[in-house]
Amino acid sequence: MANSKDIYHPSKEVVDYATIKDYDKLYKQSVKNPEKFWADEAKRLDWFKPWDKVLDSSNFPFYKWFVGGKTNIIQNALDRHLTNANRNKLALIWEGEPGDIRTYSYHALSREVCEFANVLKAMGVRKGDIVTIYMPQIPEQIFAMLACAKIGAPHSVIYGGFSHEAIAERVNDAKSRVIVTADGGYRRGKATRLKEIVNRAMEIAPTLEICITVKRTGEEVHMENDRDYWYHDLRSLPIAEKCCCTEEVDAEDPLFILYTSGSTGKPKGLVHTHGGYSVYTSATHRMVFDIKPEDRWWCAADPGWITGHSYMVYGPLINGATIFMYEGAPNHPYPDRWWKMIDKFGINILYTSPTAIRGLMRYGESWVTKHDLSTLRLLGSVGEPINPEAWKWYHRVVGKEKCPIMDTWWQTETGGFVITPLPITPLKPGSATKPFFGHEIAVVDETGSEVGPNEVGALVLKKPFPGMARTIFNEPERYIETYWKKYEEKKWYHAGDSAKKDEDGYFWIIGRSDDVIKVSGYRLGTAEIESAVVSHDSVTEAAAIPLPHELKGNAIYVYAILRDGEKPSKALEREVKDHVGKVMGPIAKPESVSFVDSLPKTRSGKIMRRVLKARALGEDEGDVTTMDD
Ligand code: WT7
Repeated sequence: MANSKDIYHPSKEVVDYATIKDYDKLYKQSVKNPEKFWADEAKRLDWFKPWDKVLDSSNFPFYKWFVGGKTNIIQNALDRHLTNANRNKLALIWEGEPGDIRTYSYHALSREVCEFANVLKAMGVRKGDIVTIYMPQIPEQIFAMLACAKIGAPHSVIYGGFSHEAIAERVNDAKSRVIVTADGGYRRGKATRLKEIVNRAMEIAPTLEICITVKRTGEEVHMENDRDYWYHDLRSLPIAEKCCCTEEVDAEDPLFILYTSGSTGKPKGLVHTHGGYSVYTSATHRMVFDIKPEDRWWCAADPGWITGHSYMVYGPLINGATIFMYEGAPNHPYPDRWWKMIDKFGINILYTSPTAIRGLMRYGESWVTKHDLSTLRLLGSVGEPINPEAWKWYHRVVGKEKCPIMDTWWQTETGGFVITPLPITPLKPGSATKPFFGHEIAVVDETGSEVGPNEVGALVLKKPFPGMARTIFNEPERYIETYWKKYEEKKWYHAGDSAKKDEDGYFWIIGRSDDVIKVSGYRLGTAEIESAVVSHDSVTEAAAIPLPHELKGNAIYVYAILRDGEKPSKALEREVKDHVGKVMGPIAKPESVSFVDSLPKTRSGKIMRRVLKARALGEDEGDVTTMDD
């Protein structure tokens, strides 16, 4: 179990190397005048026109940052590097699962992005149009994102593991006319068939008119005239000529929409902006990982999630880092694939999830120790609480006890790190430690009073910050309802996590307090899973709960009521599991489906998932006075 007395102090070497040596002093200044802190950070970036006002809080909770400023994230992530020493520096090193390698300097990356942007423009994409991207982890995924940003067209990236129904639901909300995909990608030695999934999505997503497909695997795909185009055909046309001007946008113009699961069935399209998001991702990335010009940075996430957006693509590029990207599975062809690549490319910082660490841990130490990992300087963790056992293994076996672990707590909503150590922070395994600069954070009860040390409560963020999502696309009311209603009078952001703060001011995240399940760090709504279960013909009603799982952190357990006349069987259980996997994508496939006669409900008919969970774990059911018989 996590222990608040178990402390790892940074070595003298780490402290000597660190740029920020005094957290407390800088923290105090930052919260005394957050607007000054954020404005100073913003001044490190290029602006076409400076802002008139740092923060406009006149229309709570719809904060605006750097109001009146003109920018484009591409000016900072690419264009400005072309006129300085970064021009010929590697921006991107990519390795495909079969072992193919591609590298791009900042100059080369910018040319790729210009060509992609010109192709999008030729396909009729204009400033403000939302382009959907559904890609494997190949460089073109990044080109497509940056190309959209460059022309002021917000992107909506959908994780390549999602189903055609999930794509259609998101496309229909965003009303995308253009989708960018690939024939497929490689995963565990096999080619995935993304274009086929997009074709099925296009049948039920009427706004989609054009699909641009990048060739990766060479598998045969079905294409239709006047709808489907190969990217390599389009880029060889004169329309894709090399130069493309970066569109000037307002600081508050949307950069992207990213859909994430919430308490109700429909995914939320969180909106992030060019200005505030540029400032927030670059500042957090630079300070927390103490980025130096020579660093090779590997965020082993998928660009389809916020981690990929903020710390694989935008933050590191703004900071002029060299990013590493890998296409496939960590254990393919052998469980040392990651360690081999760290050795080969001389990676300095690895940022990944507890699930990935636990997954690699089970193969034993020798897969790690046979490679030279001495280039590693820092490690990172994100997505769910890291259990101390995995933390210690990561620290000892991967980091050789010399690399501090940055356990960063944040959310799709926050755009970047919120609770996190710095390299100089004394670490407690399992704790994300302390607030990042500019943040005041508390653990409170229902009424908003702070709970005592080590008591469980709700995590709230008290101050506005530039990385915060501005709204939920199409649903501003839901934005208020979900995050701001609960502590409206105090104007606090309600994060939806339960947490504790210990006597040293360290935060310990316990997990979601709403109907969101974290499986392998992926966020899934119980309502979405349940509606996928009941879309199976044999099922009438279902409840989904998370139960602890050794590798995944949590696994999904489903309790389902069968239609009259249907009989429970192993075969039916398998069928329902596969069905959910098909409807939502493989990550949502339940660990177990149990058929039951009834579900515990409140008198008003709400399923009491808490009771199901307590029963499954053999724990006390707690207060059941509202339960129907
Ligand atoms: C939820 C947000 C942040 C990018 C990836 C996930 C959980 C995230 C940590 C951490 C404990 C964590 C929280 C949060 N979470 N990082 N370091 N320690 N829990 O983004 O999918 O929006 O999920 O992930 O429960 O609310 P997301």
